[in-house]
Amino acid sequence: MQNRLGLGLVRQPRTVLFGPGQRRQLPQIAASYGRRCLLVTDARMASTPEFQEIAAQLEAAGFVVFLYDGALPDLPRANVMEAAAAQADRGIDVIVGIGGGSSMDLAKSVSAVLSHGGDVRDYFGEFQVPGPTLPVITVPTTGGTGAEVTSLAIVFDEERGAKMAIADVRIEPVAAIIDPELTLSCPRGLTAATAADALSHLVEAFTARPKNPTPEQLATQIYVGKNRITDLFCAEGLRLMNGALARVVANPADLEARSDVMFAAYCAGMAINTTGTAAAHAIQSPIAAIGHVAHGFGVGALLPYVMRLNLPYATAEFAAIGRLLEVAGPDQPELEQARAGIERIERLLELVGAPLELRALGVTEDHVAQIASASVKATRLVLNNPAPLTEATVAALLVRGIAGDRSWWTAP
Ligand SMILES: [Fe+2]
Repeated sequence: MQNRLGLGLVRQPRTVLFGPGQRRQLPQIAASYGRRCLLVTDARMASTPEFQEIAAQLEAAGFVVFLYDGALPDLPRANVMEAAAAQADRGIDVIVGIGGGSSMDLAKSVSAVLSHGGDVRDYFGEFQVPGPTLPVITVPTTGGTGAEVTSLAIVFDEERGAKMAIADVRIEPVAAIIDPELTLSCPRGLTAATAADALSHLVEAFTARPKNPTPEQLATQIYVGKNRITDLFCAEGLRLMNGALARVVANPADLEARSDVMFAAYCAGMAINTTGTAAAHAIQSPIAAIGHVAHGFGVGALLPYVMRLNLPYATAEFAAIGRLLEVAGPDQPELEQARAGIERIERLLELVGAPLELRALGVTEDHVAQIASASVKATRLVLNNPAPLTEATVAALLVRGIAGDRSWWTAP
C-alpha cells in the first residue's frame, strides 16, 4: 500500500543531546524539572566510575538524589512494583533512567505508577496512562535498544508468561542525553547483541507497512506506519551502521565508531517510535521464553528469514537498502538490488558475531507450533509487517530458520 497522505510523523523527546561528554549536561537539563531526582539503573552500571560521577555532579548542583539500582534484564513486573513502592513518600520531581533498555523502561514504568498509582498492569496497552506523568530523562549506555527516545516500556508479566508494553506518549522521555563515551566499557557480547537489535529496528522500520491513519487512529494508536520522516532516520542509521560496525568490532575503544553506532541506534529508536517493529520482534518474544537468549541475538537470528518472507512484499524497500549499503547500483534489476541488500545486512550481523540460525536460540521442531501460535497474537507488530503473518507462514519460516535455509525462497 502507498501512503496516500504523504504522511510524515515523528514523536520524540523535547530535548535530545548527543555527543561525547554530553552526560555532564544532565544537571542543567534536569534542573528544569525540580530538585528531587531519582536515578534508576542496574547493579553493574551503578558500580562504574561514570555512574558515580553523574550522581556526584547532581549532588554538587544541589539535587537531592535517590537511587534505585535493581533494574533486572527483561524487566519483570515485580521489579517495577518494587522500584515504585520504594519511592512512595519521597516527593520525586524527575526520574533519570541510566543504562540499557531495562533501566530506561523501568524509569518510564515507575513514572506511570508513581504518577497514577495502581499496578503497572493497569497501563499495559496503547494510550492507557490516564494523565501526565513525572518527567523522565534517559541516558543510554548501550548502542542498541532505542529506548532513550521511545514512548514504550516493555515489561515481562511473570504470571502471564508474556512481555507486555506500556505504549503511550505520556511516558515519552522529556530529554535523552546520548553520550557515546558511556558505551566504551560496554562488554563485547552486549555490544554485539544491541547492535543486532538496532540493525533489526532499522530494517523492520524501513520495510514496515505504510498506513493511512485517520485523526482518531493518530490519537489512539502508537504505530502509524512507515513514513517520510521515519525513512530519513532509517537511511541515516543504515548508512552509519554499514561503516561503523566493523570498526567497533576491530577496536571497541574507537570512540568515533562507537559514536556512529550509537547515533544509528538513536535513529532506529526514532523510527520505531512511529512505525513500530514487525515480524522479527513478534516471533522473538515467544522464543525468548524458550532459550533466554539476548533480545538482540533473537531478533537478529530471525531477521534473515523474516527478510526473505517479506522480500516479495517490500522489494523496492530492500533494493533501497542495497543502494544505501553500497552493495547495489540503480542500474541493476530491482530484485538483484534487494537481494544484495539482504545479504549485506546478514554480513553485518555476522560481523558482530550474531547467530544466523534458530538452533542457536535453542529452537527445535518441537517448538514450532507453540511459537507460531504465540507470535500472531502480537497484533500490533503483525499489522506492521509487509507480508501477511499467519500461523502457517510463521511455522514455515521457523522450519527454514531451524534448518538455516538462506536460499532464495519462492514461497514461505
Ligand atoms: Fe528490539
